Amino acid sequence: MTDKAVSGAQNLLINCVGLDKGETILLVSEEYGLGYFDDTVPLAIAETARHMGATVLTMSTPRANGPDDVPEALGAAMLHVDHTVFMNRIGDQMRFRELPGHGTKTMIYTLDNVILGSDAALFPHPFMKEMVGRFNSEMATRKRWRVTCPAGTDVSGDMPEVSTVSDKADSSFSVNLFPICVHRPVPANSMNGQIVLNRFVTGTNTHAYSPEVFHLESPITVTVADGHAVDLQGDPEVVDAFRAHSKMVAELFDLDETQIHSWHAGLNPGTIYNGKAVDDPVRWNGMIFGSPRHLHFHTCGDYPPGEINWHVIDPTVSFDGEEFIRDGEVRMFLSDETADVRTRFNITKTQLRTNQSIGL
Ligand SMILES: [Fe+2]
Repeated sequence: MTDKAVSGAQNLLINCVGLDKGETILLVSEEYGLGYFDDTVPLAIAETARHMGATVLTMSTPRANGPDDVPEALGAAMLHVDHTVFMNRIGDQMRFRELPGHGTKTMIYTLDNVILGSDAALFPHPFMKEMVGRFNSEMATRKRWRVTCPAGTDVSGDMPEVSTVSDKADSSFSVNLFPICVHRPVPANSMNGQIVLNRFVTGTNTHAYSPEVFHLESPITVTVADGHAVDLQGDPEVVDAFRAHSKMVAELFDLDETQIHSWHAGLNPGTIYNGKAVDDPVRWNGMIFGSPRHLHFHTCGDYPPGEINWHVIDPTVSFDGEEFIRDGEVRMFLSDETADVRTRFNITKTQLRTNQSIGL
């Protein structure tokens, strides 16, 4: 384990989980061999927790089919510990539910020890919390939003008076998230324009289904009217196959595949992905959603995050004409508006430039 991975684990355990000496912490990992989280991550976190004087319990589970398919033994274990940390997609699946016990619950997105030791996990947790909080508050005061990307996406919509969507980075969650890396999702019900899809669309880690990935052999342009996909343009064979995939997922869960529920961009400039996205787009999505080079739409469902994610790369995100994110850089974090927070945590603007290594 590298010194940096230890620092990342300490940031998680001290600043996010709030682990104290003498407390008990349950680490929930995924069944050996699933290949989503690297097996060294639970080991690194366990070792760091033990060094801090905590009692570490570990449990691994098979992949759950959905939020209602969680082992009872896991719920029972959570009743008897001070803290639970999920390095397991069950944490994501359960984040909208009431969870048993009074201990803290935290879902982590560091898939391997390189990411655990990367800037994404080393920015002090309270720093990211404050920066993302500023983004959320400022965004909430605006009336209109617009998202564009170099591939041709250009959609816009109204900001709701009070955001009714809660997802990652929202304090109303039953599960804390580490590292903090996205703003509150923006509802898409008033969205109009066009979205250009490239490469692939993926599942959202809510329900398991197969195949979770649909590869696009050529780009598709989706026309969006009031938050619904009303037309698809592109190679007819690709369009037909895309429609068939979307319909397959919708029918599995009785959903409307044309519905686009909401979207968010990544806000953690240190986010990286070491592999190639195309080799495992689901795993890639599970980490890279935190990069400012990435924005995804929650589609196929009337709840966040839906069942299919549509991905946009290097977005520009404006609110009332002001660019909060430009070509995958969080302008707001580099601006005078957040200078006081940067100074307090001794973080330079250079550190807040987006890491370009996102597996593409
Ligand atoms: Fe999302």
